[in-house]
Amino acid sequence: MSLAISLAYLVAAVLFILGLRQLSSPRGARRGNQTAAVGMVIALGATIPLLHFTTAGLVIVLIGIAIGAPIGALTARRVHMTAMPQMVAIFNGVGGGAAALVAVTELLDQGMHPAFALAFPSVLSIVIGGVSFAGSVVAFSKLQGLLTGTPMTYPGQQVVNGLIALAIIALAVAVLTAGSVPAFFVALLILALVLGVAFVLPIGGADMPVVISLLNAFTGLAVAASGFVLNNFALIVAGTLVGASGTLLTKLMSDAMGRSLANVLFGAFGQVVAGPAGVAGAEGKSVRSGSPEDVGTMLAYARKVIIVPGYGLAVAQAQHAARELADELERRGVDVEYAIHPVAGRMPGHMNVLLAEANVPYEQLKEMDEINDEFKFTDVALVVGANDVVNPAARNTPGSPIYGMPILNADEAKNIVFMKRSMRPGFAGIDNELLYDPKTIMLFGDAKDSLTKLVAAVKAV
Ligand code: TAP
Repeated sequence: MSLAISLAYLVAAVLFILGLRQLSSPRGARRGNQTAAVGMVIALGATIPLLHFTTAGLVIVLIGIAIGAPIGALTARRVHMTAMPQMVAIFNGVGGGAAALVAVTELLDQGMHPAFALAFPSVLSIVIGGVSFAGSVVAFSKLQGLLTGTPMTYPGQQVVNGLIALAIIALAVAVLTAGSVPAFFVALLILALVLGVAFVLPIGGADMPVVISLLNAFTGLAVAASGFVLNNFALIVAGTLVGASGTLLTKLMSDAMGRSLANVLFGAFGQVVAGPAGVAGAEGKSVRSGSPEDVGTMLAYARKVIIVPGYGLAVAQAQHAARELADELERRGVDVEYAIHPVAGRMPGHMNVLLAEANVPYEQLKEMDEINDEFKFTDVALVVGANDVVNPAARNTPGSPIYGMPILNADEAKNIVFMKRSMRPGFAGIDNELLYDPKTIMLFGDAKDSLTKLVAAVKAV
């Protein structure tokens, strides 16, 4: 590899790391993406001279770029915020699949007895990339509603999955010791695909973002292994960064839900869907519902209001209306902040991204630990399309599926307003006792409509 290419790879690696650093705050996130993208363009540019193209090879690569780049750019531009997890799933799966295919072709090229230094990372890349590809396709299908979101289980399932894993290990050993027989590593790839499907099927739709993050880490490892196969420094660095950050994100998300990774992967969470669907509520308990005018008056005379955004805010695309309401309240001297739960919505940073899009000042976005002690001094907690992240069952009800999940202390506010369309439960599928609390007022309706009515009601006070 020439010095120029090595230097270009080094610059690309520095830009990847810098991009990741910038992604760690909402303020720098957009720039972080751009920085890493520039790094990727430099890495791609530096790779082209390494490919020693024949004309046919060059044409194939150009056709690949001409097909892939517009698909990637168009889907990323058009995707709805609520569908972002499935887009990440499918892009991630394609990366894992590509890494596995690269390893298969390298092994085919090397003949019967490839060097161990090449065969070992190839086998890793085939297995991890294959699991990641197939698992990501199932995760995509669950989130897209093509497959049911409820865990698909059967007795002895984990034993069967364990046996598939054992068969994969046996075949991997065979490839490494008996020589590179194409039938072995094609069988290895097929088994890895089967394991990817079998591993994700029993996991509920609610846990898919965690699974996608884990599969993302797998893809990173598969890509890093491909880097060893191809002796490519940029792939090793980029794959390792994806593997490490995916692993950390997986842990952060599991921690934020108060569950172990093992419970997420093997607990079939979300299998039993409980909770009422009618306005009467569980066991006939009644709820207090109010009009936009009632709530508007309460907000206008409050001193401190905390807005708790959740998945429903994203569905309703109500971020601009929320900002408008906050602006109107601030004009009247009300102190307004937003409480951001780490797993509010359906993907990491979901609420930060939405609210940043509506130009909500970053200083008003408070993380859970930062704001939880403030609820008791708050006149109104305005819960906009959120449910599980304020459900006190996580604190008070041992045995509840979300018991142990850290929550926002909205129940400690003097008044709580829930803005949602019905009494249906949130993603975890469990009832929320806070909806029946005497301090709670339900403002039923689509979050955007209700917020727009609230702005008018506050202005009218
Ligand atoms: P949820 O608990 O899912 O509650 C969202 C609420 O929004 C629902 O109760 C729904 O009630 C309401 N809603 C839906 N559409 C609406 C609309 N157009 N207008 C008004 N309300 C609407 O959401 P959350 O509190 O944000 O909690 C997130 C959940 O996702 C947690 O269980 C979390 O563990 C899980 N999860 C998140 C992540 C990440 S990284 N964010 C990862 C894994 C799992 P109605 O149908 O009655 O309107």
